Amino acid sequence: MKNLPKVELHLHLEGAAPPAFIRGLAKEKNIDISEIFDENGGYKYRDFNHFLSVYEAACTTLTGPEEFYRLTKAVLEESTEQGVIYGETFLSPDFCGGGDLTAWREYMAAIKEAADASATAGGTILRGIVTPIRHFGPEAAKPAAMCAAETVGDFITGFGIAGAEDAGEPRDFAYVFDMAREAGLELTAHAGEWRGPDHIRDTLRDLKVSRLGHGVRAAEDPALVEELAESGVMLEVCPGSNVFLGVYEKLTDHPINMFVEKGVKVSVSTDDPPFFHTTMTREYEDLASTFGWDEERFQNVNIDSMQAAFCDAATREAMIKKLKET
Ligand code: ADE
Ligand code: ZN
Repeated sequence: MKNLPKVELHLHLEGAAPPAFIRGLAKEKNIDISEIFDENGGYKYRDFNHFLSVYEAACTTLTGPEEFYRLTKAVLEESTEQGVIYGETFLSPDFCGGGDLTAWREYMAAIKEAADASATAGGTILRGIVTPIRHFGPEAAKPAAMCAAETVGDFITGFGIAGAEDAGEPRDFAYVFDMAREAGLELTAHAGEWRGPDHIRDTLRDLKVSRLGHGVRAAEDPALVEELAESGVMLEVCPGSNVFLGVYEKLTDHPINMFVEKGVKVSVSTDDPPFFHTTMTREYEDLASTFGWDEERFQNVNIDSMQAAFCDAATREAMIKKLKET
């Protein structure tokens, strides 16, 4: 499974930071965040909301572009190791200069330098999705959207939203999504991880996204499942994350296989791998052993993922060609 070529569309850059990397930075900078680690050195949290605050505490060690260069390099080395040929990562201006455009450009230059080096060396090809944090509120999302609009290009290709799903309503963020769309960015939004089908419907109507982060709770509404299949809206599914955080008790309860059977487009990702003790290879192995997914199923899922990827036509074609060769 490790060598199978993979496409990962849903990965939070800071959430992919190995705990040892964050501990090392904390030590370098004399920042005391020892309470976020367990006795084995892993991240420690009680539930989803506590996860979000542990995540933010870890981010306090990422103090400048140099730290993000090192982080991106480490994350891409791991992605390459996992067989990921193409990936997209969420980036938050909130953690990269606090919404200041000049600072954001510096952070982006550093992150892109690491991404370009990976591509040149034949490793994972990476694109960035600018993602304000929902629980920081709609006002904080405006400078984030401005940063996104000002840096749209061959690296920044998408716009999304993450964070606590119950913080406000999708329409509160319609303004920033309109702004991002006008700037030429492609759109996704976390929805249907914690809230149900109504929230997914509101997100599709008010934010007009072509993909949903998670979206798995659409499974509770058969009419919505049918609508997703018809519209081709892709679900960025992170099965291990959902099970680890308790959205589903066990993988056998997870609707990913039902979605495929009903014709809903899905992709497979890790979300925040060290937080959920997972890797892309582990996700594939678990889907193979639980639902009998074979190499052909993975190939189809990855080709669908590239069709929905936020990239240029040449990259899309090259990646699909690679996927078909294996
Ligand atoms: N930020 C990082 N991981 C997240 C998740 N699974 N849901 C919402 N926001 C997140
Ligand atoms: Zn996520």
